Amino acid sequence: MSEVKFFYGENIPLEMHKVRIVQKLNLVPIERRLEAMTEAGNNTFLLKNRDIFLDMLTDSGVNAMSDKQLAAMMEADDSYAGSETFTKLENKMIDVFGKKFFLPAHQGRACENIISQIFVKPGSVVPMNYHFTTTKAHIVLNGGSIEEIPIAEALNVNSKDLFKGNMDIAKLNAVIEKYGAENVPFVRLEAGTNLIGGQPFSLENMREVRKVCDKYGIMIVLDASLLSDNLYFLKTREEQCKEMSIREITRALSDLSDIIYFSARKLGSARGGAICTDDENFYMKIREFLPLYEGFLTYGGMSVREMEAMAVGLDETMDENMINQGPQFIAYMTEELLKKGVPVVTPPGGLGCHLNAMEFVDHIPQNQYPAGALGAALFIVSGVRGMERGTLSEQRDESGNETFSNMELLRLALPRRVFTLSQVKYAVDRIGWLYENRKLIGGLTFVDEPKILRFFFGRLGTVSDWQSQLVNKFRADFGDSL
Ligand code: F0G
Repeated sequence: MSEVKFFYGENIPLEMHKVRIVQKLNLVPIERRLEAMTEAGNNTFLLKNRDIFLDMLTDSGVNAMSDKQLAAMMEADDSYAGSETFTKLENKMIDVFGKKFFLPAHQGRACENIISQIFVKPGSVVPMNYHFTTTKAHIVLNGGSIEEIPIAEALNVNSKDLFKGNMDIAKLNAVIEKYGAENVPFVRLEAGTNLIGGQPFSLENMREVRKVCDKYGIMIVLDASLLSDNLYFLKTREEQCKEMSIREITRALSDLSDIIYFSARKLGSARGGAICTDDENFYMKIREFLPLYEGFLTYGGMSVREMEAMAVGLDETMDENMINQGPQFIAYMTEELLKKGVPVVTPPGGLGCHLNAMEFVDHIPQNQYPAGALGAALFIVSGVRGMERGTLSEQRDESGNETFSNMELLRLALPRRVFTLSQVKYAVDRIGWLYENRKLIGGLTFVDEPKILRFFFGRLGTVSDWQSQLVNKFRADFGDSL
């Protein structure tokens, strides 16, 4: 992909796959898009697919699957216990990660539930490079708390640091000293750190984390959900990885981990989850919980078809020409937006392109959810659905006060191998227009606010009639265009 030079000097990613099955899309008129956004309570999670043009909500469970994955699904061997499909997947897990034991689960948060129930006790503290919503919720549910200790650059929206997902080693030492190693059940490293813009950590940093963990006898749990992006960045950005194959880099990360878990909705482009470890003790502990929450040990809540797809998908993840598509499209989108002066997270990471709402709509105060408002506005003007990753995705504290997020991001995920370059160009065009007209965007306020993970189901209203003004301006500029 990146090896191909264009005669006229254009710098665009070239797909190393062809499209053989397509799904028709609808782009409904802006008036209907406004109606749909109102029906959804200004929450992009509550929109219906029939009103959406480009679904950039997430990469979870919606990556394009390969012909080989689909073919494998047709020959799945189904049985409650002992299916050939399970053995195939188990062998692939051992092949890719080199760990002795594999436990299946129905998705990533199911792994988090089991790991937290076993290892987190009231008073436990889990240091991590950054939290993910479901991870934090499970740790807190079990009486623990988290300490986010990324390097300072991590929270710098625009940075030159190529590994913003790195952990601050001095802080790691300090946190363990402060709470005592006995209260730190594990250190969690998240590959392709989701909530700060899909930013990777380096192999060097993980080695340093390992040294500290060895000193205190603490285990490392690797959340590998976004591993494919992190692998690509290690291969292309870190000197010591340039001569290594993707397989070798994967093994190096695995060797530094005590437990690896992931969402196979992301890693492996299927639907499911997995835990693996070399430690028989951990395996036996985790095994006890599996039939309670997931299902028997040879399916863990997954359908055999998905397990087949996952086995092939993991293998395909070891192909640089497969895992580079996402990051290269994201880099293209980010750079095109930068040319138009649109504030985006840099350097470009994995998962998606992230608009910096704190700057995009700097006139909207954080208690009116700037990233949520930007998400609603973008859907209205384009039919592009993004996901708020800011204060709305946080929870209020015990006294009911807002916990303002460090960053206010609108994530525009690029599910792997799903969108074409012209669709990305369309999104860039509409985002550019919206940026020119950003002062028209106003804030949001909760109408119905759930207590837990409020961003999923919460409904919001607008603080003024800013949305109809936005529609009027769109009609003035675009005429009767969709
Ligand atoms: N860890 C990370 C880093 C994730 O990004 C996710 C899911 C999970 C764990 C949980 O996995 O969804 O299979 O239960 N991220 C999705 C997203 C929801 O849209 O970013 P899951």
